[in-house]
Amino acid sequence: MLLLGSGGREHALAWKMAASPLTERLWCAPGNAGIAAEAELVPVDITDHPAVIAFCQAQGVDFVVVGPEAPLVAGIVDDLEAADIKTFGPTKAAARLEGSKGFTKDLARANNIPTAAYERFHAAPPAKAYVRAQGAPIVIKADGLAAGKGVIIAQTIAEADAAVDMMFAGGLGTAGAEVVIEEFLQGEEASFFALCDGKTAVPLASAQDHKRVLDGDLGPNTGGMGAYSPAPVMTPALERRTMDEIVLPTVRAMAAMGAPFTGILYAGLMIDAAGPKLIEYNVRLGDPECQVLMPRLMSDLVPALVAARDGVLKNFDLRWYDERALAVVMAAKGYPGNYAKGSVIEGLAEAAQIEDVEIFHAGTRAEGGRILSNGGRVLNVCALGPSVKDAQARAYAAVDRIRWPDGFCRRDIGWRAIARETQAR
Ligand code: AMP
Ligand code: GLY
Repeated sequence: MLLLGSGGREHALAWKMAASPLTERLWCAPGNAGIAAEAELVPVDITDHPAVIAFCQAQGVDFVVVGPEAPLVAGIVDDLEAADIKTFGPTKAAARLEGSKGFTKDLARANNIPTAAYERFHAAPPAKAYVRAQGAPIVIKADGLAAGKGVIIAQTIAEADAAVDMMFAGGLGTAGAEVVIEEFLQGEEASFFALCDGKTAVPLASAQDHKRVLDGDLGPNTGGMGAYSPAPVMTPALERRTMDEIVLPTVRAMAAMGAPFTGILYAGLMIDAAGPKLIEYNVRLGDPECQVLMPRLMSDLVPALVAARDGVLKNFDLRWYDERALAVVMAAKGYPGNYAKGSVIEGLAEAAQIEDVEIFHAGTRAEGGRILSNGGRVLNVCALGPSVKDAQARAYAAVDRIRWPDGFCRRDIGWRAIARETQAR
């Protein structure tokens, strides 16, 4: 099997795939220093689809798993499948659920999936007229993939106008050539993951992440500074409603339009008194959400992924540990702005000795027997525990054994869930 990607998400996937008795040999392209403990790293450029195909053919790879969204939106699944290489993930047409916000909003509207009111725009004047008609706060989104920079929550009309102008002036490249403007939703956010085989979906689990860089959820947005699973706000009743009102109608609608969705559907939700609303879809696991899902999964991941690819998920059952999982992201000082690479990280083995702790690498590389930082988000220190509070204590105990003067982390990952646990007691 070949896994594509190089982040903490892919380390968690590699760890779980390597644990499967079905895995004879596992490669990862391009991988990182942590993934190297689970898989053989291959220096193939994953944007070069013919090169990936050539590697699979040369090595007799039976199954490919794609981690990140960019290759999915670029159609790597279509290209590998056309070369008779079984691949887990959505086709290019199905990956529009992440690749085009307007596509997803139209699908939601046409299928009565609860979501924020919206309109799509190709030019600034009608967009600004709509902003005036709706009032602020209002949300301005680039239609295409914008590496986490495509959503602007405008508190005033002036901010909304500036966002519209920035996007139509090409500030986000082609991603902003079309803009979606939508109602500002209030409530609590949660992520929900489902495994889909084109016809049906199996619920996985819920999670919540911390996007802001500073304690108290302050400061600029990042790719995610930590996460935990499950999300306490997601009761079993809300999970059922999310499947019935959001995920399953989406899977049916995609199949009906001839673009069946196979892969992981990651629903970003806003939960309020009325129930769950869809904020957006991603077509892959989250990072760092995957790092808190994999340690909770008791079942073998590999047959589930193969069953999804083969379209035989109906009645498939996955079992989960009851424990809560929490991940603390350690990032290079300066992230999400400018940061240096190449500083030495020590103490990883001591940290990993703590019970129920798993360390998943993101931006790391190995050199001369040492682990060096090689990105913005560098490590995910993950722990399981009977409560989020216990998992948090274990994760930070492990963080405190890691010696990396050029790194930092938030100290309050899980605070909302822990407050809920304290209240419940
Ligand atoms: P991103 O993950 O970069 O696409 O950012 C999406 C984030 O923007 C979500 O996680 C929400 O916090 C916020 N967001 C997006 N749409 C809305 C909305 N309609 N109302 C409120 N917040 C939103
Ligand atoms: N943690 C958010 C994402 O993976 O998109």
